[in-house]
Amino acid sequence: VLCWFYVFPVYRLPSYEEIVDEVSRKGHVWQKNDTGIHVYRKLLEECCDPLRMFAVTKENSPIGKVLWYDGELYHSHTVSNETFPLFVQEPPLRRPPRRCVVVGNGGVLRHSGCGPEIDNADFVMRCNLPPLSKKYTEDVGIRTHLVTANPSIIEKRFQGLQMSRRAFVDSMRAYGSSYVYMPAFSMRPGTEPSLRAYHALADASSNLTVLFANPDFLRSVGAFWKGRGVHARRLSTGLFLVSLALGVCEEVTTYGFWPFETAPGPAQGPVSHHYYDNILPYKWFHAMPEEFLQLWRLHTSGTLRMHCQ
Ligand code: CDP
Repeated sequence: VLCWFYVFPVYRLPSYEEIVDEVSRKGHVWQKNDTGIHVYRKLLEECCDPLRMFAVTKENSPIGKVLWYDGELYHSHTVSNETFPLFVQEPPLRRPPRRCVVVGNGGVLRHSGCGPEIDNADFVMRCNLPPLSKKYTEDVGIRTHLVTANPSIIEKRFQGLQMSRRAFVDSMRAYGSSYVYMPAFSMRPGTEPSLRAYHALADASSNLTVLFANPDFLRSVGAFWKGRGVHARRLSTGLFLVSLALGVCEEVTTYGFWPFETAPGPAQGPVSHHYYDNILPYKWFHAMPEEFLQLWRLHTSGTLRMHCQ
């Protein structure tokens, strides 16, 4: 029995209260670890080749290439004369940015005053077309270099762009001339709305550049984190972006990653799920607390800096 214990030690996930407590005590302490950063970048390069693979490009997805959906089994899209022209020519981040920030949508950002710090980074990534109106600027900033757009948002918020495209095109102005990263080939129902979003922006001569997430990249990043104890049906958008950032940037800071109901710090008051609403995700879909623990581990080892308070 003792032998088994040493071979398979029993790890217990810390409770939610223990995590809040630890972050409250140690959250503000951080020391950069260049070796850790280098090791992680190498690990991600080896598993997932983020620079070359994070988006579907004309280089990595020529006509005839079969893109297997990463969110569904046995379904694929074969790159055709219709889809190929929509892909960017080559990987967009050829000159990797130095200081990157990934802004999660956690309610912990409310009243954080982090906006100026976020805007000061070289490359700002945001998730799921978040609101950036004036009342949030002080807390979340205004600049964006890459924003993800889940096709389900196009469906829900803009009625799948079947009727009017104007509201969509207008609302996208908030993201300036950034990349719009869409997982068009993850689930079959997402492909058509993503292509419609592409055409809506192109027809309006928008300054935004649509990038389709490469399903091979999303799959390899999923496997990478599964091997590190994140057991979710699908990784959260935020963790995909952090993985991209860790694989290409010299320094990564995250904001708004706090999937708990109590704020860290001395007050430990209630905190909403998002900085703009309190709509909770489906419990069975993501494993945000497990993801948080992985990111917290990287924070304590100096590999990335999590801004929690
Ligand atoms: O669609 P999804 O549930 O992945 O994301 P979201 O609610 O729009 O939030 C964007 C990202 O921020 C998530 O993917 C998480 O990584 C992170 N997040 C967090 O860590 N804590 C929260 N309370 C909310 C979001």
